[in-house]
Amino acid sequence: MSMSLHITAIAILSLHLLLLLANVNSSSSMDPYKVLNLIHNPNGTITRLDKYPQSPPSQDPNLPTPSLSKDLTLNPSKHTWARIYLPHKPTSKKLPLIVFYHGGGFIFYSAASTYFHNFCSNLANQTHSVVVSLEYRLAPEHRLPAAYEDSVEILHWIKTSKDPWLTHHADYSRVYLMGESAGGNIAYTAGLRAAAIVDEIKPVNIKGLILIQPFFGGNKRTASEIRLEKDLNLPLIVTDSMWNLSLPLGVDRDYEYCNPTVNGGDKVLEKIRLFGWRVAVFGCDGDQLVDRQRELVKLLEGKSVNVVGQFYSGGRHGIFVGDASMSQKVFDLVNGLH
Ligand SMILES: *[C@@H]1O[C@H](CO)[C@@H](O)[C@H](O)[C@H]1NC(C)=O
Ligand SMILES: *[C@@H]1O[C@H](CO)[C@@H](O)[C@H](O)[C@H]1NC(C)=O
Ligand SMILES: *[C@@H]1O[C@H](CO)[C@@H](O)[C@H](O)[C@H]1NC(C)=O
Repeated sequence: MSMSLHITAIAILSLHLLLLLANVNSSSSMDPYKVLNLIHNPNGTITRLDKYPQSPPSQDPNLPTPSLSKDLTLNPSKHTWARIYLPHKPTSKKLPLIVFYHGGGFIFYSAASTYFHNFCSNLANQTHSVVVSLEYRLAPEHRLPAAYEDSVEILHWIKTSKDPWLTHHADYSRVYLMGESAGGNIAYTAGLRAAAIVDEIKPVNIKGLILIQPFFGGNKRTASEIRLEKDLNLPLIVTDSMWNLSLPLGVDRDYEYCNPTVNGGDKVLEKIRLFGWRVAVFGCDGDQLVDRQRELVKLLEGKSVNVVGQFYSGGRHGIFVGDASMSQKVFDLVNGLH
């Protein structure tokens, strides 16, 4: 656990980043590939110089893992797949289903990353849920909305899957979409898109969205972004660079994918209110993104959506996945839902 404390969900503080921060005053003039330690190869592919440890799935009931896990293909043409988690001793009673979207600024990490694998494995164990963690397409190879499309495709896939972990153990009438950081943004958008097509994904029935330090932005800086501009854990040049490489070409940070408050919020929020979905937003003051997260809660409250903001003092971006005592706050909330 102590090792994961030092790995944030969105950026590893490398010497490379320290040097950048020491030498830069304006993020707009920086090459976003350089900031994120990416190489844009002449043949068009991207090399990620920062490597994150990965863990294999395990179906061995004799291993002391928090839950069993396995990987299943979603869409071979897009190289998307999902890692599914099942508690060791699932009861005959069906379990809630949590669809999880990992973080990493839309650019980094995988459903196989040890950091998120451990979180999902504990999530299934602690909340007695079936967890489906999606391997979605990353930017800059696949800019948004690619990840959003994958985030909805998995819901159609769950509906028709014959996999016994799903058909025997998952209760499709109690589905929650959960994501951390960029995954929180994806869970929110997947929720908006799913709310518009609820009949098409039946019997998959969404009951709520759990957004853990969701990654949002906008053109005008918030007070927390200004206060934590040079925060070593997640500086503004990193988030600016992530938006630069993940948003569709030609749009700015006041595009709806980045700023959910533009045009007064999405019209489909009215449906989310009518369906009675529960929405939870986790955040903490030590994260430059916290004001955006509070704005989202305010937006949803203004639409009379059943939303709860769970905000903590101090902390940092990534703490709800990286720190076991903070992960517990997420598990406790889930256990209160069902
Ligand atoms: C593209 O270039 C990179 C770096 O030189 C190389 O590792 C990779 O195999 C190449 N990929 C293709 C599809 O040519
Ligand atoms: C939770 O994990 C522990 C081991 O870490 C295991 O002994 C226990 O059976 C697991 N519980 C469930 C419900 O999977
Ligand atoms: C990304 O940053 C580069 C360099 O600062 C800039 O020229 C480009 O317009 C930006 N692109 C987007 C999509 O924001």
